[in-house]
Amino acid sequence: MRTRVTIIGAGPAGSLLAHLLQGAGIDCVLLERRSRDYVLGRIRAGVLEAGTVGVLRDADLAGRMDRPREDGGGDPHDGVGLALDHGRLRIDFADLVDRRVMLWGQTEVQRDLYDALEVDGTTFLDRVDEVDLHDLDTDRPRVTFLHDGTRQQITSDWVIGCDGSHGVSSGHVPDQRVFEHSYPFGWLGILSETPPVDDELVYASHERGFALCSMRHAMLSRYYVQCEADDRVDDWSDDRFWTELADRLPDEIAERLVTGPSIEKSITPLRSFVAEPMRHGRLLLAGDAAHVVPPTGAKGLNLAVSDVVLVAAALRAHYHEGDDDPVDAYSDVALSRVWKAVRFSWWLTTLTHRFPDRSPFDRRIQAAEFDHLASSRNARATFADNYTGLPIPLDDLHAGRPRVAA
Ligand code: APR
Ligand code: PHB
Repeated sequence: MRTRVTIIGAGPAGSLLAHLLQGAGIDCVLLERRSRDYVLGRIRAGVLEAGTVGVLRDADLAGRMDRPREDGGGDPHDGVGLALDHGRLRIDFADLVDRRVMLWGQTEVQRDLYDALEVDGTTFLDRVDEVDLHDLDTDRPRVTFLHDGTRQQITSDWVIGCDGSHGVSSGHVPDQRVFEHSYPFGWLGILSETPPVDDELVYASHERGFALCSMRHAMLSRYYVQCEADDRVDDWSDDRFWTELADRLPDEIAERLVTGPSIEKSITPLRSFVAEPMRHGRLLLAGDAAHVVPPTGAKGLNLAVSDVVLVAAALRAHYHEGDDDPVDAYSDVALSRVWKAVRFSWWLTTLTHRFPDRSPFDRRIQAAEFDHLASSRNARATFADNYTGLPIPLDDLHAGRPRVAA
């Protein structure tokens, strides 16, 4: 097989990239290890930054999301709540930065993307195995793999590694520098067919640990509690979960909590990870293949989107304008945005979680940060600026460099 761009991995990063390239008249082949049903069944976060919403609309992927909320569409949120022990405050995005976020599950985004790929007629091979990358230093890189028991090979101009944190692409960047930070806890998440406890998300920090109230729609709630890193789902009965959640929320919220059986329950370890650079020869990395953030800022999907918007712009410049400066700038420009999201996710995690080795000093620092947010409009505006999403640095890509050298 021969194509211009081979994309490895069809999560949000790979499938959005395939759709954007299709729109730009650049043909590609998409390879995915899992089955379509498996990918569509994954439950992930559900907060879209303002810029992500714009990207989906511009790419004609927002039809279902933009339906009225009563008809199953996305839910625009003007703010979020924060709670520390018994204190509460609200970050009013609309007032502070005139932007909002959209509650629309990654599962739905993925479904719209797969539908779009079908309409586009994209060559999409799922359940591929033994994917391997070759000749990345040349301008004819190759990807080999097994599909339906047959060994196949694709030659292309570019290979884009969108294969997530357990993929193979990242390992093909020699002299890679890895920056890693792990957190000594996990998140236990449940979905339940109950009405959400509040109209907006609530991030709660409590002596017993962090808790998050989120939602998918009027009768589907998503809740999380901080748990031990080595806890197993079986350690957490529904009763234990609901009791722990209620204990960590301010009383007036806990009183409104409607409990019910969980329909999904899973544990996520928390870590920050960045692999630099995001390019080697004709291989570019995007999304979780290059970086992972803890879910506290809901940045994972949004970073995948901003990366592939930059990749698509760089490849458009390569093919349509014969300009390779954007491709050359890609890694530095993407990383300049990635690190800001890594910082925000780390900061919000540190502000809201209970650390086992935390001293009374650290606890006072958390309280002071919270107090600063409560008393300073500037502090809240900084939160809102980061949470609703920093701009996708397309101008920097075309200028050929990040604003501040990496
Ligand atoms: N060959 C082909 N596909 C692979 C391989 C491989 N060797 N290894 C992994 N994959 C596939 C995975 O099965 C997965 O579907 O790559 C895809 C990567 O998708 P994601 O993990 O969703 O990563 P990404 O598209 O970068 O999206 C990042 O989604 O994963 C969440 O929390 C993450 O929100 C973040 C966002
Ligand atoms: C979710 O709804 O699953 C969710 C929301 C916000 C986060 C993480 C997850 O920060």
